Amino acid sequence: MSILKNSKDFVVNSFYNFKERILFDLVHRTTSSQRLEIEQFISTMSLDHGKAYYASWTSEIKNNHAFLMNYIKDDFKNYHFLDLGCGKGKVCLLWNILNQKKGIQQNITGIDFYYPLIQIAKSNYRKLFSDEGHFIHGNVADFNFLALKKPLIIYLFNPFDEYMLDCVLNKIGKIPTYVVYNIPMHWNVLSNHAYQRIYAKSGSNQNQTTLIYTNIKSS
Ligand SMILES: C[S@@+](CC[C@H](N)C(=O)[O-])C[C@H]1O[C@@H](n2cnc3c(N)ncnc32)[C@H](O)[C@@H]1O
Repeated sequence: MSILKNSKDFVVNSFYNFKERILFDLVHRTTSSQRLEIEQFISTMSLDHGKAYYASWTSEIKNNHAFLMNYIKDDFKNYHFLDLGCGKGKVCLLWNILNQKKGIQQNITGIDFYYPLIQIAKSNYRKLFSDEGHFIHGNVADFNFLALKKPLIIYLFNPFDEYMLDCVLNKIGKIPTYVVYNIPMHWNVLSNHAYQRIYAKSGSNQNQTTLIYTNIKSS
């Protein structure tokens, strides 16, 4: 019985991995789908509180983009989009593709503390667009969000633990912000910072669970 269940799980997981990760790379000739465990990172930087690299699902990024575009409406383009823990850049790439389809120009930045991932993100971006995009090598704990002088859309695909999430939210402070949180293991930290939940979706696979929060008070 358990062999049957394991075989079924294997087939279902392989199907989703192909549809939601590998297909994106095949279509765009990018390299984002290969997972990298944090134990494999060779870095002089502290990797405390961080999690492994694996790419977001294509359908989740599309859903979240559609939801926020519809929710924020005309002001959407004025928000600076930040993928915190961008890895190989897939979210930034697809966010820009979706923006271009709608004729939207928006600042898009990816940050990751593992330099080889940033190099891959830049190279992936160059394959789709005419430049290497805006990818920063650094720890999100040191990032100056205020310097962007814009309201923020923060994308989190299970990048770090609750300590780092708390640190990031402290740094964001009162900047008007939407937080997209896929695999939202530490969502309680957002509640503790008085963020309101405006969207919730779940599915049979953990990659299909997304919550969206904001610190903007509705009038
Ligand atoms: C699950 S991956 C998400 C990749 C990408 N956002 C996506 O959705 O395809 C998490 C990433 O967060 C990065 N990360 C973890 N902690 C970080 C930190 N404190 N500062 C910057 N990057 C971090 C890891 O290196 C890893 O690439």
